[in-house]
Amino acid sequence: MPDQYAVIGNPVAHSKSPQIHAEFARQTGQDLTYERLLAPIDGFTATAAAFRARGGRGANVTLPFKGEAFGYATSLSERARAAQAVNTLSFEDDTIFGDNTDGAGLVSDVTRNLGCAIAARRVLLLGAGGAARGVIEPLRGQQPACLVLANRTLAKAQQLAQSFGGAIEALSYAALAGRQFDVVINATSASLAGSLPPLPPGLFAEGALAYDMMYGKGETPFLAFARGEGAATRADGLGMLVEQAAESFLIWRGLRPDTAPVLKRLRQAGA
Ligand code: ATR
Repeated sequence: MPDQYAVIGNPVAHSKSPQIHAEFARQTGQDLTYERLLAPIDGFTATAAAFRARGGRGANVTLPFKGEAFGYATSLSERARAAQAVNTLSFEDDTIFGDNTDGAGLVSDVTRNLGCAIAARRVLLLGAGGAARGVIEPLRGQQPACLVLANRTLAKAQQLAQSFGGAIEALSYAALAGRQFDVVINATSASLAGSLPPLPPGLFAEGALAYDMMYGKGETPFLAFARGEGAATRADGLGMLVEQAAESFLIWRGLRPDTAPVLKRLRQAGA
């Protein structure tokens, strides 16, 4: 019987993870299955436990359950602890190991796929929710020249910056006026609602990368803004999705798949 994996979410029907992991498995010759599990909003733990009881080896966890998965895990990686969220569970004998590959996925996509260094660059992270928290430690690990957090609710950005022990500046959007950045990452959920944070003009330094952690059909409002502002490189979060999946696959199977053909196929399919 092949090893069983799943993605647990609500909603989950739209998830591309089964397709991505099926391609990784084919590519690396691994015998596994990967399914979608729709958990009731109040039923994450029951769904994960039932999957584990029927032999599940591991699961990805997507919205809105990453915080609950953090509580469900009995052992945590450092990066999951920093993120206070888990997107990858591994079911071992009597341990539920929780990890978070989102930040590593972002860093891989930016540095490897897009060829854009984070080290020694000025980095601006927009948003102070779970998506932002999940990528702060891996971004800091790249040793940027500075990391600035900006959020609509300034107090949330300040709290988040403090929880990472300083060295992160927290600003309102208005206070960004006159500042320039080499890498600007949108970790707000504003694109979901078809809007964008009220950003001042002139934010993008020469050669800057604008990165939206969201993806979908067509250009996101943030990337349209970045184009209008002359940002040299613009990317949505599809590459991050594939890279975080590859990191999960590595945790589970001990092999790193080649992400390039998988990302290319998803792009061709109009994702
Ligand atoms: P997630 O887990 O996706 O980060 P979240 O914790 O609800 O979701 O956080 C959403 C983030 O998007 C927050 O930073 C939020 O700003 P506030 O903290 O001020 O609420 C930001 N956000 C959502 N819609 C926005 C909008 N229209 N304009 C600007 N920021 C927005």
